[in-house]
Amino acid sequence: MRIRNVKNKEEILNQSKYLIKNPKDYIGKWHTIFNNHNPIYIEIGMGKGKFIIENAKMYPNINFIGIERQDSILAKCIKKIDEKIPNLIIIRMNALIIDEVFSKEIDRIYLNFSDPWPKKRHHFRRLTSNIFLDKYDKIFKETKEIYLRTDNQDLYTYSIETLSNHNYYLKNISLNLHKELLEEKLITTEYEDKFVKENKPIYSLVATSNQCLK
Ligand SMILES: C[S@@+](CC[C@H](N)C(=O)[O-])C[C@H]1O[C@@H](n2cnc3c(N)ncnc32)[C@H](O)[C@@H]1O
Repeated sequence: MRIRNVKNKEEILNQSKYLIKNPKDYIGKWHTIFNNHNPIYIEIGMGKGKFIIENAKMYPNINFIGIERQDSILAKCIKKIDEKIPNLIIIRMNALIIDEVFSKEIDRIYLNFSDPWPKKRHHFRRLTSNIFLDKYDKIFKETKEIYLRTDNQDLYTYSIETLSNHNYYLKNISLNLHKELLEEKLITTEYEDKFVKENKPIYSLVATSNQCLK
């Protein structure tokens, strides 16, 4: 995917109060940044941030952390934050180092429209590959919860397999989320809005380590 350059991105990132510049310093103590012990939900590959910004506004008693590796995209996200949101922060990093940044303190991970990496030799880069699932094991506090949405059927079936092999229970499986949840107001992502407009089905699931969780 070609990313449109944001000219003054460095300035936007440097001046942002939302961007944590030294994330490894907070390993094991992210609650100190928020000044509370509320649950922490992270979105990996948050893109321009619509989903996480709207969630943070809607759920002030949850702490949200958005993770993104592309500077221009991060700058676009930061420009979008139009009010003070005390329960939101943003980290610039490749999720490959996620277990150097968090330790047993995350309650939920959102993976929304993650890059599909269609070639087999690149599957290890998928955010639901065994490499990443092993890392997530180290960052979850207790119960593991991964919320996944994608338009990509191949990534979806691959993820069902890797998550199941990793002893996750799968629930809320949907092969056409937006058709099934006509009544419910969903918080959507930028990519999702585009795909829904194109009438593409959205595949979704929740993977959890707790069989009893509804
Ligand atoms: C297809 S976009 C989806 C963006 C957003 N979640 C949405 O649904 O609109 C995937 C995003 O994930 C980011 N990304 C992919 N792999 C990543 C990684 N390993 N670490 C951090 N960000 C990553 C990309 O830079 C890109 O912005």
